[in-house]
Amino acid sequence: MVSIIMGSRSDLETMREAVDTMTEFNVPYELTVVSAHRTPDRMFAYAKGAADRGVKVIIAGAGGAAHLPGMVASLTTLPVIGVPIKSRNSIDGWDSLLSIVQMPAGVPVATVAVNGARNAGLLAVQIMAISDPALAEKVAAFKGEQEDKVRDGIASLKQQFPNKFDK
Ligand code: RP5
Repeated sequence: MVSIIMGSRSDLETMREAVDTMTEFNVPYELTVVSAHRTPDRMFAYAKGAADRGVKVIIAGAGGAAHLPGMVASLTTLPVIGVPIKSRNSIDGWDSLLSIVQMPAGVPVATVAVNGARNAGLLAVQIMAISDPALAEKVAAFKGEQEDKVRDGIASLKQQFPNKFDK
């Protein structure tokens, strides 16, 4: 399963996109709040126990001095995807982004865009799909739908600007 954690209940609004992605692809997940600063012992126990609970990928969202994804990555061999959250009082999310993306060599966190919970969810689904052919087919279908949408957009532009397209 995928584990989705966040530094505060207030992060759920952003992290919901990762949750919705699990539902969309029918991927089992667990969801909870783990704060690196406010509940350090819980973070330690969570990260140490994740693999034994059957977790394959961790998505960790946090804002501000966002140490949760990096600290969890330091405590587990599971891949960790970090979601920098633009929280209240944050400096446009730069604090969260840099706290998560600038990990030292040896402790990687796959960092998505600020508030990029959708892509975090999709990346987790793709990692799960490596060992699940049926899920890989769903991912392929999803990518095909995206392509169709772009093709529809091109067709509509061609209609609107008939002489401006040579392809
Ligand atoms: C971080 O501080 C959390 O991830 C959240 O983004 C931010 C604010 O948390 P609250 O004060 O709303 O609990 O640890």
